[in-house]
Amino acid sequence: MSHHDERTFVMVKPDGVQRGLIGDIVGRLEDKGLKMVGGKFMQIDEELAHEHYAEHEDKPFFEGLVEFITSGPVFAMVWEGADATRQVRQMMGATDAQEAAPGTIRGDYGNDLGHNLIHGSDHEDEGANEREIELFFDEDELVDWDLATTQWVY
Ligand code: PPS
Repeated sequence: MSHHDERTFVMVKPDGVQRGLIGDIVGRLEDKGLKMVGGKFMQIDEELAHEHYAEHEDKPFFEGLVEFITSGPVFAMVWEGADATRQVRQMMGATDAQEAAPGTIRGDYGNDLGHNLIHGSDHEDEGANEREIELFFDEDELVDWDLATTQWVY
C-alpha cells in the first residue's frame, strides 16, 4: 500500500445481489482504478448486523435495516486507492436512491431509500473504514498486491 492509499469497506447489499448487480458494481470500481484487496460472499447474521449498524440503534428504521441486511447474501469487499472512502461514496450516490444523481450506482439502478443496493464506509466518520474492515475481515483475508495500472491512473 503506497503512502497516499487508503482502504475502505464496501458491500453489495441483499437487493444488489438479488438484482444481479455484483459484477456491475465491481466493474465500476475496477474501471475507476480502485483495487480490490478482499472479497467475501456471505450471509450476515443478527449479531453482525447489530454491530455493523450500532450507530443507528436508536433510529426508527433500525429493526427494518437489520431485517433487510440479514435477508439474503451480501458481497463484502475491501477496496484500496487514493482517498478510496470518499471516492466510493461519490460513486454510490445519495442514500435515498430516488435522490441519487444519474451516473451513480444508486442513481442508475435504485428507486428506494432503504433498499439502496450498496454500502460504503462513511468518509465523514473518522476510522469507520478501518472499523468496518476489521468487523468483516481477518487481516490474513486481505491481499497485498500491485495493480499494474495504478501508476497511470493516479
Ligand atoms: S443517518 O440518519 O444520516 O445517519 O442515516 P444515513 O447515514 O443516511 O443512513 C444510515 C443507513 O441506514 C439506512 N437508512 C434507512 N433504511 C431504511 N429506512 C430508512 N428510512 C433509512 N434511512 C437510512 C441507509 O441506507 C444507510 O445504510 P448504509 O448501509 O449505511 O448505507
